[in-house]
Amino acid sequence: MTKTQPTIFVLGFGSIGALLAAQLQKRAQANVIPLLRSKQRLAEFQKYEYKAKIRSIFKEGHPELVATFPNASCPDLMPSECKIDNLIITTKTYQTKEAMAPYMKYIHPDTNIILVQNGLGVFEVLQEEVFLDFSPNLFQGVISHGAFHDTGFTFNHAGFADLKIARLPVGKNSDIVQSLSLVREDAENNELMKAFCEPQFVESLAVKHLTYQEMLLGQLEKFLVNACINPITSIVDCINGELKTIAGPIFESIITEALAVLKIAYKPLFDYTPKNSDFPALDVTGTLDASRMLEFIIRIGCIVNDDNSSSMRQDVLNLRDTEIQYINGFIVRLCEKLGLPSEQCKVNQTVETLVNLRLGLNRTRDQFGDKRKK
Ligand SMILES: NC(=O)c1ccc[n+]([C@@H]2O[C@H](COP(=O)([O-])OP(=O)(O)OC[C@H]3O[C@@H](n4cnc5c(N)ncnc54)[C@H](OP(=O)(O)O)[C@@H]3O)[C@@H](O)[C@H]2O)c1
Repeated sequence: MTKTQPTIFVLGFGSIGALLAAQLQKRAQANVIPLLRSKQRLAEFQKYEYKAKIRSIFKEGHPELVATFPNASCPDLMPSECKIDNLIITTKTYQTKEAMAPYMKYIHPDTNIILVQNGLGVFEVLQEEVFLDFSPNLFQGVISHGAFHDTGFTFNHAGFADLKIARLPVGKNSDIVQSLSLVREDAENNELMKAFCEPQFVESLAVKHLTYQEMLLGQLEKFLVNACINPITSIVDCINGELKTIAGPIFESIITEALAVLKIAYKPLFDYTPKNSDFPALDVTGTLDASRMLEFIIRIGCIVNDDNSSSMRQDVLNLRDTEIQYINGFIVRLCEKLGLPSEQCKVNQTVETLVNLRLGLNRTRDQFGDKRKK
């Protein structure tokens, strides 16, 4: 029997979007269609013959993957009868709703959408503000690979880690505790998950197809890393390694406060015990223990990746908006939503305010000059 080639649209053709698009096309034989923001951006891509290059700079010899996307499109050029059956969203978190708007008419109740973004809160935006009349199949990816833009449509795959994926709890699968049978069923029958589970694609990005509760545990762990490293390196303007021996107290305050709120918001995860062998074992309290998290963040963030400049620091240095609202700001929004007193998020709220201040200051200096006297 011949396999049908899935068509997968990618909204957010930046570092992560291009990495996924190129690997899916090459390793899962998917027909991948990048959705660019405008005709002008598409014309730029045309100048590169619709080729995206991924340089694996974490490997010796920097092998280059070249993928061609002749069907790349943009809102003005989408045929009116087009249907989007599979969609990967890799815009920055705060860009999601606006980027999706022109494509909403092509999305239907059976569309599979996977969000591959940092932070938390986009799922809630989709549920509360975007999909009010129907709900497509939603999935979440937590990507720990590192990638950054080089020139043109060339991107550097700088750090190899893994990509965790899971179905989000919505519609008829709204239980946050999922069985391994559900994961297997999706791997066999869901077109998007089938592509993500193609063995060569799995190997190329170390894909782990999980239950929601397993993915959520990984997502919260990564969220806490981002909630410490990203804002603090941005506020004090330093590379990760410089914080190694001095960031303990501020990281501890961020972690303790965030965990207290997350424990309330994700109570079923913190209370989770597997019902039977169809449910995975999970060490939630051990993984999300505050002392372990502090040690983990210092080790992974400041020692292993000591010469790294965080993506948020890069954003504030380059005067770009940041994802702070979906990281520390998410704790603040959760507190409001849960009706908790504002004292329960004062550290994360202050951190969010200071990141915005840092960005505002950098923009002011860019416009009016640096008024400091030595
Ligand atoms: N890069 C990493 O190493 C890494 C690692 C882990 C997680 N993540 C997360 O992955 C997500 C994506 O990050 P990234 O580094 O790939 O960001 P990025 O390079 O900035 O890519 C975002 C892309 O979205 C596009 N976009 C924005 N608004 C759009 C619109 N209205 N219509 C169409 N396209 C639009 C941008 O297009 P333009 O180029 O036209 O602006 C850009 O190409 C973020 O949540 C990030 O935190 C990144």
